[in-house]
Amino acid sequence: MQPRAVILNEGKDSAIRTQFRGIPSTLLKFLLLFLVLGLGFSVLSIYMTRYFGAQSIISSLQPSFQNCFEEPNHLDHWISPPSNLMHTMTDEELFWRASLVPRRKGYPFRRVPKVALMFLAKGPLPLYPLWEEFLKGHEKLYSIYIHSLPSYQADFPPTSVFYQRQIPSKVAEWGMMSMCDAERRLLANALLDISNEWFVLLSESCIPLFNFKFIHNYFMRSHHSFVGAFDDPGPYGRGRYSDYMAPEVNVSQWRKGSQWFAASRKLAVYIVKDTKFYPKFKEFCKPHCYVDEHYFPTMLTIEAPHLLANRSITWVDWSRGGAHPATFGKADITEAFLERVAHSHTCTYNNRNSSVCFLFARKFAPSALDPLLSFAPKFLQSY
Ligand SMILES: *[C@@H]1O[C@H](CO)[C@@H](O)[C@H](O)[C@H]1NC(C)=O
Ligand SMILES: *[C@@H]1O[C@H](CO)[C@@H](O)[C@H](O)[C@H]1NC(C)=O
Ligand SMILES: *[C@@H]1O[C@H](CO)[C@@H](O)[C@H](O)[C@H]1NC(C)=O
Repeated sequence: MQPRAVILNEGKDSAIRTQFRGIPSTLLKFLLLFLVLGLGFSVLSIYMTRYFGAQSIISSLQPSFQNCFEEPNHLDHWISPPSNLMHTMTDEELFWRASLVPRRKGYPFRRVPKVALMFLAKGPLPLYPLWEEFLKGHEKLYSIYIHSLPSYQADFPPTSVFYQRQIPSKVAEWGMMSMCDAERRLLANALLDISNEWFVLLSESCIPLFNFKFIHNYFMRSHHSFVGAFDDPGPYGRGRYSDYMAPEVNVSQWRKGSQWFAASRKLAVYIVKDTKFYPKFKEFCKPHCYVDEHYFPTMLTIEAPHLLANRSITWVDWSRGGAHPATFGKADITEAFLERVAHSHTCTYNNRNSSVCFLFARKFAPSALDPLLSFAPKFLQSY
């Protein structure tokens, strides 16, 4: 076998040698052809540039590229909400993008101000049929955003107003900075829709107490944002302040308040753009300092005190004592109960006394859904 292989190899070598000898003349012909073509093109392009100008040639090529890769540069591009809430921006990129603010007064288009309902939930929203009932017929006046555990797969039907309203989410833990991060993420995503004017943080156990129109008006006419912020001299208030927070925050500016806020667009931007107070709270407000009770109330009291109502818009019952507020189930829901929650309070609204102090309430168990739905025609239609 060996000798034959050698012979075959020799035969190949000679074949390659003859091919090499044949190539140069073919190559020469090709080179000449290219040279002529190249010269032709350059003469043509010089002529075209002189005749039409370089700009028009370039611009005549551009539209086809633009249509493929860029959105048209119309105003629509800036004012229509993102068609898909899922994106690949990091928090830093998102917060930067969301903090871009127009400086010119007014809007050069018809802007219908919306309420952004931002659900901060672990997984499912068991009371969603009540919210759908509440929102029915007001499609142009609200938008929905949901932050849930990243492992949770929502399964709302395409007909639901909650369908595909999830935003890119991360794990959020009570009392930790990750909770404030989640709230800022909700705000930032909602800020990307220029029509959102009010931003309400809600949980899976929240319910509305009035009809949508009433709530929309209450927000749009308010001069103040509903952020709970009070100065508690005790161990659970000032007792959680750390001297390391100075000079950005001193103890007299330290505030406490409920996590559940409703903020105007202006205030929402304050929260999203903050880079001054965030590092201090992240480093020096750790349990037993519960950062979600102090960061926004304190920061906003320093940055924009005149814009705060210093009260939450979400009713909750702490009267039973303990670390957690009361949860209401099927047996608790009566007309008298809902009436009492909605109307038996006093507060100020635009510096006037008011008996409507809460627009939402928590905490409601899934079992409360049926009685709530049966009373909905009445309490959601009042006013
Ligand atoms: C805290 O800050 C406020 C406002 O800047 C100032 O009036 C006050 O004197 C400060 N208090 C302390 C203890 O530094
Ligand atoms: C809320 O509190 C701040 C000071 O912490 C104050 O400047 C502001 O006027 C208060 N808001 C209302 C509506 O009273
Ligand atoms: C508002 O209520 C307070 C007590 O809650 C009362 O002192 C005050 O006179 C009331 N103001 C008006 C304008 O009714």
